[in-house]
Amino acid sequence: MLKIVVCVSGGGTNLQAIIDGIAQGAIYNTKIVRVVCNNPGAGALERAKAAGIEGVCVSPKDYEDRERFEAALVRAVEEADPDLIVLAGFLVKVPAALIKHYENRIINIHPSLIPAFCGTGYYGLRVHEAALSRGVKITGATVHFVDEGMDTGPIIMQKAVEVHEDDTPKTLQRRVMEEAEWVILPWCINLIAAGQIKLENGRVIVTG
Ligand code: GRF
Repeated sequence: MLKIVVCVSGGGTNLQAIIDGIAQGAIYNTKIVRVVCNNPGAGALERAKAAGIEGVCVSPKDYEDRERFEAALVRAVEEADPDLIVLAGFLVKVPAALIKHYENRIINIHPSLIPAFCGTGYYGLRVHEAALSRGVKITGATVHFVDEGMDTGPIIMQKAVEVHEDDTPKTLQRRVMEEAEWVILPWCINLIAAGQIKLENGRVIVTG
């Protein structure tokens, strides 16, 4: 059984895709043991509650400095003793201590085809605003392992999505979520649960 902690900050649609994937048997032998959130008002916490999954909120507002907040965040994850940490719309930079402890056991979903439109300042709607202003015809989503950089870890899977002439950032974000994020994030978790993902010289090999 692959035990996962899912870290969230917003609406939780990627979390919901994982919950549904497990319920429908599309994700093999996996259990979400805890949802960790940095935003008390996040819809993702409601989704966790509705699914009977423990939700823990660690808000920076409750700590007198960044160090104490990060220590609480690390504790909230490590207490659940996961095999894998999944960042699903999580807008906090992962503390170095967690990256060290869970080397190559943290994955993230990013709403572009990395290396395009990623790194510091590229998150949520801003990614799609940048794609539209650049005029790309194809965008998509990427699942990658998390390292000490920002969106720089080994790429596990990507899925392309067409950009429509009349797209707004919102319509493009929605289509990237529906056609790419909600498909490849559950699928990557499934492959990891089935032991079908290997890392060789910093590159991901899918053996399944
Ligand atoms: C999505 O655009 C996702 O790609 C990004 O955060 C946004 C919200 O995701 N990482 P969710 O609905 O909270 O899963």
